[in-house]
Amino acid sequence: MNPTPPAHCTFEPDDWLRLARHWHPVARTCDVSAAPTKAVLLDEQLVLYRVKGQVVAARDVCPHRGVPLTLGFSDEEGIICPYHGLRFGENGRCNRIPSSPDQPIPAKLNLTPYAVEERYGLIWVCLAPEEGSPAPLPEMPHWLDDGFQQITCPPFDVEGFAGRQVEGFLDVAHFAWIHTDTFADPNNQVVPAYNPVETAHGFTVDYWSTVGNYPASSDFRAPEGFSWLRHFEMHLPFTATLTIHFPGEARLVIMNAASPVSARKTRMFAPIARNFDLHIPVEEVHAFNHRVFEEDRLMVETQRPERLPLDLTLEAHIPADRSSIAYRRGLKKMGFGEFFLV
Ligand code: FES
Ligand SMILES: [Fe+2]
Repeated sequence: MNPTPPAHCTFEPDDWLRLARHWHPVARTCDVSAAPTKAVLLDEQLVLYRVKGQVVAARDVCPHRGVPLTLGFSDEEGIICPYHGLRFGENGRCNRIPSSPDQPIPAKLNLTPYAVEERYGLIWVCLAPEEGSPAPLPEMPHWLDDGFQQITCPPFDVEGFAGRQVEGFLDVAHFAWIHTDTFADPNNQVVPAYNPVETAHGFTVDYWSTVGNYPASSDFRAPEGFSWLRHFEMHLPFTATLTIHFPGEARLVIMNAASPVSARKTRMFAPIARNFDLHIPVEEVHAFNHRVFEEDRLMVETQRPERLPLDLTLEAHIPADRSSIAYRRGLKKMGFGEFFLV
């Protein structure tokens, strides 16, 4: 059975269903407790809660009279609707009707839980897994490798479409223009040739250049002539990881998981793994990462059209755009249209 898009959905119904078949992060693991927590994914309002160690994600609607469960509260047996006190526990099952405690509880009062996975410090939800061939979760290189520290940055909200944001993450020509206060060099603008290579779930790119990645404020400099490798792995539709090869064995991995709240809103999640500077407080990593995303904000929020044109003739391209072109082709191949219900 195909689930239907929520009321006031901002996506074309076919695109919504295609997106609903994939995993998207909706919260950090550390932000979901017993208490009902709100999240929005693909225009669907969700309630998230933890009961007996299990995370439950369901529509934020009480099956009794439609009150949002996120207005309620919790005890050790589940979350409690504020209107008539119905309680929902493991697997979203209703386990108490206070006004008739001795009656059996009809199955109609159970919440329908969505598929949930906890990975990379995030809660991932798939609203409509494809029967027989559920989509795999994106992979984060090095997350569990020896010597790597795991950091899950606070979410970052962008008033723009996830596709535009992800494309910006893959774009190597904007470093010298937008990211010069954080890491890039305004005098190093040339983008050497690189080639995206198609994979089962998207593509990978090895991009070699002399653009360093030490914070602009740091005294560290790479050895003269050092060539930096940025290895991108795109997992369609909206998750990309970047592994930056620092001098020696030092590696920094950033996952850019853009969660489509709606066609016009994106909640960015950014798990990070690194095997150097382990003594530096994680708050500094959060802050640096936040500054980099903040530098991109104005561009991503003001690009027009808001949607990502998948017809390549609709925008002009430059040689540095090989990744963006691969990204648009990949989305088109998955069957996506123009994304918005406009
Ligand atoms: S509306 Fe939720 S218990 Fe009645
Ligand atoms: Fe950027």
